[in-house]
Parts: sequence; structure tokens; C-alpha cells
Amino acid sequence: MTPTRSAARTAGRTDGGGRRAIVTGAARGIGLGLATRLVEEGYDTTLVDVDRCVESAAAALDASFAVIDLTAADASTRLNALVDAEPCWLLVNNAGIFDKTPLLEIDLAEWDRVQAVNARSMVATMQAVVPSMVGAGGGRVVNMASMAAKVGTPGEAAYAASKAAVVALSRIAATEFGGHGITVNSVCPGYVLTDMGADTRDDEQVAGWVSMSPLGRLANADDIASLVIYLASDGASYITGQALNVTGGMCTN
Ligand code: NAI
Repeated sequence: MTPTRSAARTAGRTDGGGRRAIVTGAARGIGLGLATRLVEEGYDTTLVDVDRCVESAAAALDASFAVIDLTAADASTRLNALVDAEPCWLLVNNAGIFDKTPLLEIDLAEWDRVQAVNARSMVATMQAVVPSMVGAGGGRVVNMASMAAKVGTPGEAAYAASKAAVVALSRIAATEFGGHGITVNSVCPGYVLTDMGADTRDDEQVAGWVSMSPLGRLANADDIASLVIYLASDGASYITGQALNVTGGMCTN
């Protein structure tokens, strides 16, 4: 018998219980799906995004929000203000952008932009938020990487390099923060049909991706959220420095 989601939740303690969570890139897509689940699980959740739509997204969840461009010079200061009054238990660095350009045609300024949004922004958010976790005696950081960090696909050089950087950054952060009771992991989703990449895909490509999964389907935001919620739970306290796949078996390394 297939367990229902609520039965699975009862079996795996999630420990939301008013703990503070901050999710970046939460105006839509995976981030919004995750923020929705975190609110359901009882986390005091703050949605962060450069897109002003984050305000209505947060209002619908009765959650707080902040409009912040994570690549801006003041991003760290503004994020730090979010944890002034209340420390953060869970930081999910989910904001990202996609780029699909053949390697020999990549504009170097665009390369820099992809690295800045997808990888460098996580340094700023960790510098802003992790000290509050240290002060509180523990916490969780989950950084959104991608299957692209592990599997090569033509045209994804800038994106894949940024996600490989996320995996490496998370591994180092785990070694530096572990002594403070803070775990750091990266999550590597497979293919989720969000707005990301919508302008560069067609039905044939989607069918090709589906055929790569032994489960015969693409991921949805809830598949990714379930892993993040587990990583945030007390039961995941001995998991750190990992790059965990949620790819429906498309990628097994
Ligand atoms: P999405 O494009 O639907 O959402 C990304 C969000 O990040 C948007 O709300 C956007 O406004 C925000 N964002 C972008 N730049 C920002 C900045 N400078 N400051 C603040 N917020 C910014 O993308 P999706 O699909 O929800 O992806 C979420 C994460 O999951 C990304 O890191 C992505 O690389 C990763 N991922 C997505 C996969 C997919 O198939 N959709 C597969 C593997 C990883």
C-alpha cells in the first residue's frame, strides 16, 4: 500500500513547531512550493525574492516576506536585519537562474551573472544568517544545486558550473559550521516543470527527460520540499556535507 503524504509526515517527525525558516527565490516555483509546505509544517517562514510578487505569495500563506536582490551590494545587510529579532533555524538558498548557451557563445558578463545569482549569493546569505544560528546553538542550511552539477548536458556550462560550485561551497560550509551544531547540505533536483527554462524546452525534450527516470515522470516541487523538510528535522541531525539527489533515478552518482 502506498502511504499517504500525511501518514508519511506523521511517521517522520518534522519539528517545525514555530522554528524560523528563510527561503530565497520563494515567489514562485520550487521555492514557493517549499515555503507552502514549511508553513503547513509550522515553521515561521519568511519568503525572500527579487520579484515583488513575493508579497502576494507570502500574504496567501500568512507568512512574512522581503524583496531583496541577492546579488546587490546591500543583500547581506538586509538579510541580516531579518534575523535581528529572531534567529533562523533553517536557511534554504533556493534562488537561481538558468542559462542555456553553447560554450563557445557564452557572453562572459552573462557567465558572471549566473555565478553571482546561483552561487555567490549563497555566500552573502550564509554570512548574514549563519551567525544567528551560531548564537542559537544550531541550525540547518540547505543549498539548491541541481542534477546539472553531476551530469553533463550541452548548453548548460554556466548553469552547471554554478551548481557544481554550490555543491563544493556546501561541503566546505559543512566543515566550518559543524562544530556549532549546524548542518549544511545541497539538494540536486532533476527536472521540475517550473517557469525556469520554459522558453528553452519543447515537448520532445520533456518526453526525453521523462524517459530517463525509472519512475517515468518528472519531479514536482513537493518532491523537493519533502527532502528539505526532512533535512530540517531533528531526525536529520547527522546528515551534513552531502549533495542529495531528487532526480527520480535519472542521476545516481
Ligand atoms: P524559478 O525560475 O521558477 O524560480 C526562481 C526564483 O528565484 C524566482 O522567483 C526568481 O525571481 C528568484 N530569483 C532569481 N534571481 C534572484 C535574485 N537575484 N535575488 C532574489 N531572487 C532571485 O525556478 P525553479 O525551477 O523554482 O528553481 C528553484 C531552484 O531550483 C533554482 O536554484 C534552480 O536552479 C534549482 N533547480 C531547478 C530545477 C528545475 O528543473 N526547475 C532542476 C534543478 C535545480
